Amino acid sequence: MATFTHPKTSLFGGARIPMPTATKSRTFAPFRVRMALQDSGPSIAVVGVTGAVGQEFLSVLHDRDFPYRSIKMLASKRSAGQKLSFQGRSYVVEELTGGSFDGVDIALFSAGGSISKEFGPIAVEKGTIVVDNSSAFRMQDDVPLVVPEVNPEAMEGIKAGKGKGALIANPNCSTIICLMAATPLHRHSKVKRMVVSTYQAASGAGAAAMRELEQQTHEVLEGKPVTCEIFQRQYAFNLFSHNSAVLPNGYNEEEMKLVKETRKIWNDKDVKVTATCIRVPVMRAHAESVNLEFENPLDEDTARDILKKAPGVVVIDDRAANNFPTPLEVSNKDDVAVGRIRRDVSQEGNYGLDIFVCGDQIRKGAALNAVQIAELLL
Ligand SMILES: NC(=O)c1ccc[n+]([C@@H]2O[C@H](COP(=O)([O-])OP(=O)(O)OC[C@H]3O[C@@H](n4cnc5c(N)ncnc54)[C@H](OP(=O)(O)O)[C@@H]3O)[C@@H](O)[C@H]2O)c1
Repeated sequence: MATFTHPKTSLFGGARIPMPTATKSRTFAPFRVRMALQDSGPSIAVVGVTGAVGQEFLSVLHDRDFPYRSIKMLASKRSAGQKLSFQGRSYVVEELTGGSFDGVDIALFSAGGSISKEFGPIAVEKGTIVVDNSSAFRMQDDVPLVVPEVNPEAMEGIKAGKGKGALIANPNCSTIICLMAATPLHRHSKVKRMVVSTYQAASGAGAAAMRELEQQTHEVLEGKPVTCEIFQRQYAFNLFSHNSAVLPNGYNEEEMKLVKETRKIWNDKDVKVTATCIRVPVMRAHAESVNLEFENPLDEDTARDILKKAPGVVVIDDRAANNFPTPLEVSNKDDVAVGRIRRDVSQEGNYGLDIFVCGDQIRKGAALNAVQIAELLL
């Protein structure tokens, strides 16, 4: 039987961290025989397959035995010709072109917003259902923005195999992780206002940012000048405001995504959301402090019980041992972890809660959420 080789294991806490390197060949072969390759499955394409999210798509498709009759590996001209092995078969990475989507039922896109804007509509025109990880279409009224545990109804009626193309957007990673925990509480007591503070990992900025954090860490420890190519400032042993553009209202784009996407996903234009997004020198998985104000009372024990029952959520809330969620603990895991569940003492009665959430944003924040959307298409 073939071996399963993860792209690269880093020294950071022993967590498995996909870090695409310049190697010519990668292996995603099975631990055991998988039944995923089957004639009755859809033909799929992975756009941006050489990137951090693209690599995780393959990992999640494999882990979930996603059925497919064929799979196309697409990236830029730079990677065309690279060999990639997936579930015991060898594939050649192809350059993404307008012709890439002929006969493709489902395309998972993660090659950046400009690529999505250019090639998403071409794919839809050819009858492909595009699940897009970029922010290109998220706020478009006619494009469902979906977290399967939260609002699967938004994509009702869209199915693969009908030859009818469609766009479905994957929300921003911080939004997905936040709403996985906040939605079950919102359903119970209706959130009036939410204040989110994020502690975001390198992986959210792609494979090159992960490599830069690792390199800078070595450089600092060896007393060398740090190489700053992705963030234009020292990242290792530092933290800074999120690197997205700062808008005229003083919020950065990442913060406004949390505000706008929450309203769209909850179908609640009145919910008040504010956010502060910070990049921290964590390799993989975001953490978020979330303060919630409710319309109806919700005590912390009830909240804990609700979260324990919520699909895709695990509660780590051991006050005696001071043990709560950490990014390392959720790295490479599917579930979002929630802890520090406590009554907000700044509010009267049981109308406010503070929680702390951690989630692997390459997995649930990107690839896993997109593959779950693809599963709803079958
Ligand atoms: N990282 C995350 O956690 C995360 C979460 C949610 C959403 N996203 C979104 O997913 C997208 C990719 O993120 P990432 O972190 O995976 O970035 P990444 O590691 O930098 O990978 C980018 C991918 O896009 C491909 N690409 C670049 N230019 C291309 C072109 N002209 N034609 C075809 N493919 C092209 C790259 O191929 P080459 O190797 O050939 O250059 C690579 O496969 C972004 O839109 C990002 O906002 C990322």
